[in-house]
Amino acid sequence: MKNETILIIGAAGNNGQATLAALQNIVDANTHVRAAVRNESRGQQLRADYPGIETVVVDLDQPATLITAFAGVTKVFMIPGNVENRAQHAKAAIDAAAAAGTVNQFVLYSVVGAEWEAILFARQFREAEKYLEASGLPWTHLRTIWFQENFVNWAAGIKQGAFYFGVREGRFAPLNVQDIGAIAARILTTPGHERKAYNITGPELLSGYDMAAIFSRVTGRHVDYVSPQATATYESLIQDGWPEWQAKGVLELFEVFASNQAAVVSPDGEALLGRPLTRFEEFVQQSRSTFI
Ligand SMILES: NC(=O)c1ccc[n+]([C@@H]2O[C@H](COP(=O)([O-])OP(=O)(O)OC[C@H]3O[C@@H](n4cnc5c(N)ncnc54)[C@H](OP(=O)(O)O)[C@@H]3O)[C@@H](O)[C@H]2O)c1
Repeated sequence: MKNETILIIGAAGNNGQATLAALQNIVDANTHVRAAVRNESRGQQLRADYPGIETVVVDLDQPATLITAFAGVTKVFMIPGNVENRAQHAKAAIDAAAAAGTVNQFVLYSVVGAEWEAILFARQFREAEKYLEASGLPWTHLRTIWFQENFVNWAAGIKQGAFYFGVREGRFAPLNVQDIGAIAARILTTPGHERKAYNITGPELLSGYDMAAIFSRVTGRHVDYVSPQATATYESLIQDGWPEWQAKGVLELFEVFASNQAAVVSPDGEALLGRPLTRFEEFVQQSRSTFI
């Protein structure tokens, strides 16, 4: 591989760290990995966890902080955070990449279904995608679906024998974050991804009943599936401290799942990685101690 500098923005988050971990196994001495973090203490932590990387402090609410981060950068992976103005954050990174003049690949983290712009999360990510497409930069959209790891937040109910998840009879294909990191690393280190939108889903369609059966099998304790009404889901999200905009976004997303609008298994992830993606039961096995 020729001399490359890969900048990952949102590097300290779940997907950022999964990508750093995967890149460690791939890159050679000619490739520099630079992780953008919000503060230096996170940077110190990441340098300890992923030896050989550089870190740079960036606050996406202050776009001027991006200028030094982009010095010499040839590839970018922009992972917008769980914030309402994530499209603005992505646009700031796109502007900085265009201004740098050295970027030959811009990979934007996004969501499956962004192109339909039917729900808030899709509209937020599609706004960023469109801005990138218009920027003249060589773009790739990495569109992902609901993470398997999210269900760690459902552990309290599962431990008591109930999996409360308001998607009625709907099915979708939950996705493993470590797989996303491996796919991102592959895209960032191989040619041929320009002007492509990849849809990354998990390897199998599952209903709430299927998932409860998996929790039952793995924990050895019977777990019932319960699909609460939307109002109950909303109240419990707010009680757990979710901001209003995000709780409303989750309700819209659950309705998409419930009505089987996301009942698709995409072949893109497996094709990019050259191996099957992690099944939900494998993930629950690996995280068994969380659910018992
Ligand atoms: N949960 C799902 O199932 C799902 C599915 C598809 C897509 N998504 C979306 O995918 C994206 C990535 O997910 P994730 O779990 O990797 O998110 P995450 O763990 O929250 O990581 C996002 C990162 O963005 C950083 N960030 C936020 N605001 C920033 C700012 N102003 N300046 C600099 N950095 C900032 C955060 O920094 P700090 O570490 O300092 O906070 C964090 O490291 C999110 O937008 C998420 O909503 C989620």
